Amino acid sequence: MEFLQKLKISGGVNLSNLRPSRDNERTTSFSSTASSKTDSKGDVSLPPRGSPAAKKMKILLVIDSPDTDWAKIFKGRQLHGGTYDIRVEQAEFGDLNLASYSDSGTMVDIQVYREGTVVVRSFRPDFVLIRQSVRGIGPKEDYRNILLGLQFGNVPCVNSLTSIYNFAEKPWVFAQLIQLQKRLGKDAFPLVEQAYYPNYKEMLITPKFPVVVKVGHANGGYGKVCVHNHRSFQDIASIVALSDTYATTEPFIPGKCDVRIQKIGTHYRAFKRTSISDNWKTNTGSAVLEEIEITDRYKMWVDECSQLFGGGLDIMCVEAIVGKDNKEYIIEVNDTAMRLFSDTQDEDQRRIADLIVEKMEKQYPPKLEPSTATGAALTGNCYKSLQSFQCAFKVLGGSSTPSASEGATKTEKKKNGGLFSGLIE
Ligand SMILES: Nc1ncnc2c1ncn2[C@@H]1O[C@H](COP(=O)(O)OP(=O)(O)O)[C@@H](O)[C@H]1O
Ligand SMILES: [Mg+2]
Repeated sequence: MEFLQKLKISGGVNLSNLRPSRDNERTTSFSSTASSKTDSKGDVSLPPRGSPAAKKMKILLVIDSPDTDWAKIFKGRQLHGGTYDIRVEQAEFGDLNLASYSDSGTMVDIQVYREGTVVVRSFRPDFVLIRQSVRGIGPKEDYRNILLGLQFGNVPCVNSLTSIYNFAEKPWVFAQLIQLQKRLGKDAFPLVEQAYYPNYKEMLITPKFPVVVKVGHANGGYGKVCVHNHRSFQDIASIVALSDTYATTEPFIPGKCDVRIQKIGTHYRAFKRTSISDNWKTNTGSAVLEEIEITDRYKMWVDECSQLFGGGLDIMCVEAIVGKDNKEYIIEVNDTAMRLFSDTQDEDQRRIADLIVEKMEKQYPPKLEPSTATGAALTGNCYKSLQSFQCAFKVLGGSSTPSASEGATKTEKKKNGGLFSGLIE
């Protein structure tokens, strides 16, 4: 046990990054497909490496918040009518770490916190679905290092890793939209006018007011300010100076409503969102949501945008504001982490599952032997001596002997928050 503990510490697992407040969320997140062995808690062990069950299984890593139970959505799904079972492992970026090797691919660690114990599960993903933004609010929530690791190990992913990487900076995406508008024309592709400032220093020329200032890369209404006069604009420029990032400005469009056109695989939907609170941002506060007809014009917008960055945008949406004069203004494109709306959420999640099954079937044809090793938890050089174990877990934060009956390690949490590494046969 000590051996494993030392190995993993030197292997770079960030022990200070544990988030013990996620207990309840985690217990529901790590359930498995129907084909896997389950215990009383709904947790499962990976089958032994090389066993028939492991050969028949493909591991799908879903990077998403625990609010959506992807194991449930994929329950009963198989590839090629039963050639492979799909086993879902789910974690947020913040609970995930990995190591990638040029010869043997990517080994992922995810943290599970259960009954006072942090358990780390290790596995080699065969496919990844990313449903969380690779960048959140502020510099701490930047997971591009994880993205690099998945690319390094050549792990197939939806959306494509190239597109997700390119979507990590909003002005970089907007630059592509400008090119699209140049090709398609202003009427066909009515993009809002924008100015870009790499830092606060050039934020001198006061634009026509009111203006919307968008600071840095953030979603969900964060970093967006509506500015009504040059004094406030200077104030915002001073905040941009502190935030040490770029900013964009665009005219404030007094809108009737927003429209959102989404595409999942080859399925399209359009929504109209009308704010009923006082907030000028319709994505914060209360709004009325209505599904509307998808016109050829809307379809063309999403089709064109889905071809950006090599066309790996299987999940995406275009957002536009409809002005009081009924003119439309495209304001942004969202990618793989786009929010699903409640009424159609279940159906859309099923469509995402269909899309993933289709992609995985292409990646893993029925007759060929799998190109990536699956099933065994640990295969790296440093774990060779541990291969006789069916399943290996590192347990952080407990000290007593783990109980094998649960399938996952379980220990009492030590008062001083000590470190423990456990192995379960
Ligand atoms: N130029 C604008 N004029 C009026 N409202 C805007 C403008 N830009 C954004 N908004 C409002 O703010 C919301 C958030 O802006 P958006 O650019 O979509 O950023 P994000 O969704 O990434 O936070 C939009 O849904 C829209 O309601
Ligand atoms: Mg938006």
